Amino acid sequence: AAGLLPGAAWAQKPIVLGFSQVGAESEWRTANTESIKSAAKEAGIELKFSDAQQKQENQIKAIRSFIAQKVDVIAFSPVVESGWENVLREAKAAKIPVVLTDRSVNVKDQSLYVTFMGSDFVEEGRKAGRWLVDKMKDQKGDINIVELQGTVGSAPAIDRKKGFEEIIKADAKFKILRSQTGDFTRAKGKEVMEAFLKAEGKKINVLYAHNDDMAIGAIQAIEEAGMKPAKDITIISIDAVKGAFEAMIAGKLNVSVECSPLLGPQLMAAVKDIKAGKAVQKRIVTEEGIFPMEVAAAEFPKRKY
Ligand code: AHR
Repeated sequence: AAGLLPGAAWAQKPIVLGFSQVGAESEWRTANTESIKSAAKEAGIELKFSDAQQKQENQIKAIRSFIAQKVDVIAFSPVVESGWENVLREAKAAKIPVVLTDRSVNVKDQSLYVTFMGSDFVEEGRKAGRWLVDKMKDQKGDINIVELQGTVGSAPAIDRKKGFEEIIKADAKFKILRSQTGDFTRAKGKEVMEAFLKAEGKKINVLYAHNDDMAIGAIQAIEEAGMKPAKDITIISIDAVKGAFEAMIAGKLNVSVECSPLLGPQLMAAVKDIKAGKAVQKRIVTEEGIFPMEVAAAEFPKRKY
């Protein structure tokens, strides 16, 4: 009887995935977008991709439009942690499974999403803190830190701050002089670092930036202020993108904690499993390392983002 079916019915309909991305704020994000687009292609999944330009309202609109289009699965990387209950309930009512990638949401009802895949941001903050504590173990007297936070209300900004503070609070010599958002961008990182330098000048010993892009922007500000990055000011950042390796090789950045954006293949695998009715883990944690400047030249050729 199958032989009597019209040609089109033979071809299996591809799975349709609606994905709402945070934006294009950083080198990390660009690599993440590329990973998702290429993995979808590879997996034969039809991707409806929407860029929220760092605005939650745009993500909510995109998710509603995916629901209206009756996609098979919705995935998104939430700009901020809170404010998702309503739209996620709408997806649930429409029986469309939701996958969180990279950043998590703060919701009471855990059944509003199937799985969350991405890094442990608290642990990344701890890694940054442990590296600093070790580096400064023989240093006497106050160590003055300035912090460039990520986007206000975002999971990586909240968690990276928390993990770092948890480690450095063990020794009272570590003091956070100033902490402000640089929105995960180079331009903002530079601008806020300029303000830090104006206010605190040579008192600053350490910069902790929640991502590499902000650190790279800040490096420019430090150089323009006539100081030497990674020497006059110790610089720690997160992501370990190629730009950070270049800065380390140039001797301008001390260390970068890895945060992998290459989530595309595991997202597509989960989407297929969900559609096939297989159980998926509620939390899939990305495994990551840490790269101090001493190993940067040897590691650089192996980097994929
Ligand atoms: O959510 C991951 C963070 O978002 C990355 O560390 C940062 O670079 C990006 O913009």
